[in-house]
Amino acid sequence: MKILVTGCAGFIGFHVSNYLLKSKHNVIGIDNLNTYYDVKLKKSRIKVLSKYKKFNFNKIDLISYNKLNSLIKKQNIKYIVHLAAQAGVRYSIENPKTYFKNNLEVFFNIIESSKTNKVKHLIFASTSSVYGENNNFPLNENNNTDRPISFYAATKKSNEVLAHSYSYIYKLPCTALRFFTVYGPYGRPDMALFKFTKNILENKKIELFNRGNHERDFTYVSDIVSGIVSILKKPKKNIIPFNIFNIGRGNSKKLKDYLQSIEKKLGKKAIVKKLPLQLGDIKKTHSDISSLSKYSNYQPEINIDIGISKFIDWYLSYYKKK
Ligand SMILES: NC(=O)c1ccc[n+]([C@@H]2O[C@H](COP(=O)([O-])OP(=O)(O)OC[C@H]3O[C@@H](n4cnc5c(N)ncnc54)[C@H](O)[C@@H]3O)[C@@H](O)[C@H]2O)c1
Repeated sequence: MKILVTGCAGFIGFHVSNYLLKSKHNVIGIDNLNTYYDVKLKKSRIKVLSKYKKFNFNKIDLISYNKLNSLIKKQNIKYIVHLAAQAGVRYSIENPKTYFKNNLEVFFNIIESSKTNKVKHLIFASTSSVYGENNNFPLNENNNTDRPISFYAATKKSNEVLAHSYSYIYKLPCTALRFFTVYGPYGRPDMALFKFTKNILENKKIELFNRGNHERDFTYVSDIVSGIVSILKKPKKNIIPFNIFNIGRGNSKKLKDYLQSIEKKLGKKAIVKKLPLQLGDIKKTHSDISSLSKYSNYQPEINIDIGISKFIDWYLSYYKKK
């Protein structure tokens, strides 16, 4: 099977591609290698994927409909995992326009080209951030998500709504996956685990927003990958072929306890600067994963201590080599 993975040089796109290639699928990857964070890290992910003969990398900016559409047509692609986006809640406060471009205009190109080329299943990344200030935990897919508190969340909610209309009108099979705080090796340098690990090792202060009282449903990246793969060949067959699923671990942990696990693994204490709640940040996430579990037997496996340990082992070996 041939699968298009957008954002293949990104954290999750890399892991999805790697898994699919290991399982002998053909992966057509797209990424524009933008400079939101260290491009060297993106290039080293591509280097790993390029060891597989069945990997075909295309440095394309998805803002170009023609480039995207001709690749999908030429390669006769029928399955798409769309992970390219401008991620990050805090960055969207200062830079809403880049989210408008990469999360909305690009998303239109993706659904339009999927429709034109009769794609059999389009899976795309949404986020737990769409739940905003909902506080009936665990959060399930029937909660109201009409009141996003960040522009990032607003763009992801819009993706879900736009895709639903294409599923209804053109019968395009689509699935939105609401990822809950994903972490693991080759992780993003703008996320807590990476920043905390780096600063502790370099004896620098770490910033603990909301004084560490945030609660997050931290989900190890291989669990996200297995969830995606479990539904790839299972688009909804109803009159409206559209689904939304949470994909998380199904547990919530305080950020300060997450930090403690990092300190334990590193054998070193952090220098902490406690800060108030950041605008746009939600206080707690905790996913109800029963819907995806029923649909595809999704079952997260990696607990936080093991996951953190795997990340730190990767971090130490990756940056020692540099
Ligand atoms: N990591 C998480 O915890 C998390 C949580 C919820 C949702 N998500 C979503 O999951 C997806 C993947 O996230 P990630 O953590 O891997 O982020 P990432 O930033 O590591 O990966 C995104 C990749 O997309 C590429 N990209 C962005 N705009 C592009 C464009 N116009 N054309 C081509 N390539 C482009 C970037 O260069 C990057 O390599 C995103 O949609 C993100 O919003 C992630």
